[in-house]
Amino acid sequence: MRGRGLWGVFRQRLRRLGFGANEYLISQQHLQIRAMSGDLAVVAKDKEASSKGTMQTQITTDPPRGTRDFPPEDMRMRTWLFDKFREVSRLFAFEEVDFPMVESEDLYTRKAGEEIVGQLYNFEDKGGRKVALRPELTPSLARLVLQKGRAQSFPLKWFAIGQCWRYERMTRGRRREHYQWNMDIIGVPGVEAEAELLSAIVTFFTKLNITSDDVGIKVSNRKVLQAVLEKYDIQPDSFAAVCVIVDKLDKLPREEIESELDKAGVPSVAIEGILQALTLQSFDDLEALIGAESGAVAELKQLFALAEGYGIQDWLRFDASVVRGLAYYTGTVFEAFDKEKKLRAICGGGRYDRLLSTYGGQDTPACGFGFGDAVIVELLKEKKLLRAFPHEVDDVVMALDDSLKIPAAGIASRLRSTGRVVELVIEKGKKMKWVFKHCETLKAKRLVLLGTTEWKEGKVLVKDLNLREQTVKTVDELIASS
Ligand code: HAM
Repeated sequence: MRGRGLWGVFRQRLRRLGFGANEYLISQQHLQIRAMSGDLAVVAKDKEASSKGTMQTQITTDPPRGTRDFPPEDMRMRTWLFDKFREVSRLFAFEEVDFPMVESEDLYTRKAGEEIVGQLYNFEDKGGRKVALRPELTPSLARLVLQKGRAQSFPLKWFAIGQCWRYERMTRGRRREHYQWNMDIIGVPGVEAEAELLSAIVTFFTKLNITSDDVGIKVSNRKVLQAVLEKYDIQPDSFAAVCVIVDKLDKLPREEIESELDKAGVPSVAIEGILQALTLQSFDDLEALIGAESGAVAELKQLFALAEGYGIQDWLRFDASVVRGLAYYTGTVFEAFDKEKKLRAICGGGRYDRLLSTYGGQDTPACGFGFGDAVIVELLKEKKLLRAFPHEVDDVVMALDDSLKIPAAGIASRLRSTGRVVELVIEKGKKMKWVFKHCETLKAKRLVLLGTTEWKEGKVLVKDLNLREQTVKTVDELIASS
C-alpha cells in the first residue's frame, strides 16, 4: 500500500480519531514516520495534549515554496553582493531610498495584460484595504516622487535594494521572492541618463570580474515599435498592450503571438510588419524601415555614441527584439544577458516618461533598471567567479580559568574598540583541543589566552595562528600590536 492509497488510509483513521485536515497535514514526513511504526495511538495522545495546549506543533522546516532562508553562509554572500550594489551606486552619486514591502494593490493593477499583474501576492488587510506585496520597486518610487512633489530639485538619482514578490513559475534564477537593485534617474529627458545607467551596470559587472565576453546588453527603443504602429495607422492606445504581447516572442509560439495581436485589434498586415521589425539588429536596416529622421534612430545612435565615451561600447548591441514586458516603458529599453544563453535576463530597464502621469501626476522624464540577486549568482557560479564567504574573526579570547572571565571580557572589549573582530569564549569548561579547532573554523588570526600564572603579572599568552608563534604580552602590548 504505497502513495495515495496509504495516505488515504491514514487520513481515514485520523478523521475517525477526530483530527481535522490541517492537523495531520502539518508535516507529512512526521506523520509517515509515526504511522510506519504503527503508532497512531501516540498521535492520539498528542491530540489530547494539544487540546490541553501542551503539545508543540510540528511544522515543516522548509521556507514557503519559491522563497529562501539566508543562513549565515548565504547571508554573507548576500551582504557582499549588496555591498557591491551600494558601492557602484555611490560611485555614480546616487542616493539610497526604500519603500514599504506592502503597497496598495492599485499601484500595480495596470490593464495592458502584463504577466506581473497576474503574479501579484495580493490580499485584503484587516481593515479591508486591498494591498499587495511589491512585485517591483518602480511604482513605489513613482509614488514617492509624486508624494514629494515638484519641491524637490530634479534630477533625482535614487537607488534601492529591496525584496520583491511575484507568484512565478520557478526556473533557474527565477523565484517567488527576489531582491532587486534599482537605479533610477528622474527628471532627465535625454539618453545621457540611460548612458549613465548602462555604465553603472558595466561597472558592476567589471567589479565582479565579469567581462564583455561573458555578458552583453541588448538595447532598443520602444519608439521603433511606435513608428511601425504609426506606419500602419494603429491607435496609440494599443501601444502598451502590443509591447507586452511581443515581449513574449521567445516564450510563446509565433502563432500564439499572432493570435494575441489579432485579438488586440492589430490587422494582419501590421502583425507581419511588427514581427519583421523585431528582427532588426543594425542601424542601417532600422533606418531603412522607419527613416533616418525617426526619433528612435536618433536616440539609439546618440546612446551608442555616448557609450563609446564611457568605453562600454563592447558590451552593447542594438537588438530590436528587446521590448520588455512592463507596460510603462516609453523609450530606450535594455536587458543584460549571458552570452552562453543558459540563463534568463540578468537585469533590465528602460525609460518610462509617462508612469507618473498614470498615477495622476505630471509626465516626468524617468529611466532606470532593476537587477536581481538570483541570476547574477547563477552566472558567477557558472563562470567560477564566486569566492567562498567564510565566517572570519581576528582574535579568539579565552580565560583558562573561570576566575579570569571578567578580565577576559575586558580584553575582548578593548580589542573590539580597536576594530578587531573578537570571539570571546563564553562557554565553560572547554578543552584546548576544542579551542584550536574553533580557531580553525573561524579562521582566527590570533588566540589570546588568560592563564592564572601569566595573569598574576598582568600578562596574557598570545598565539599567532598564522606564524604559529607564541608570545607573552601585557594587555597594553597586545592592544598596541593589534
Ligand atoms: P524586471 O525585468 O521585471 O524589471 O525585473 C528586473 C530584474 O529583476 C530581472 O532582470 C531579474 O534580474 C530580476 N527578477 C525579476 N523577476 C524575478 C524573479 N521572479 N526571480 C528572480 N529575479 C527576478 C522591473 O522590475 C523594473 N521595475 C525595473 C526598472 C527599474 N525599470 C525601471 N526602473
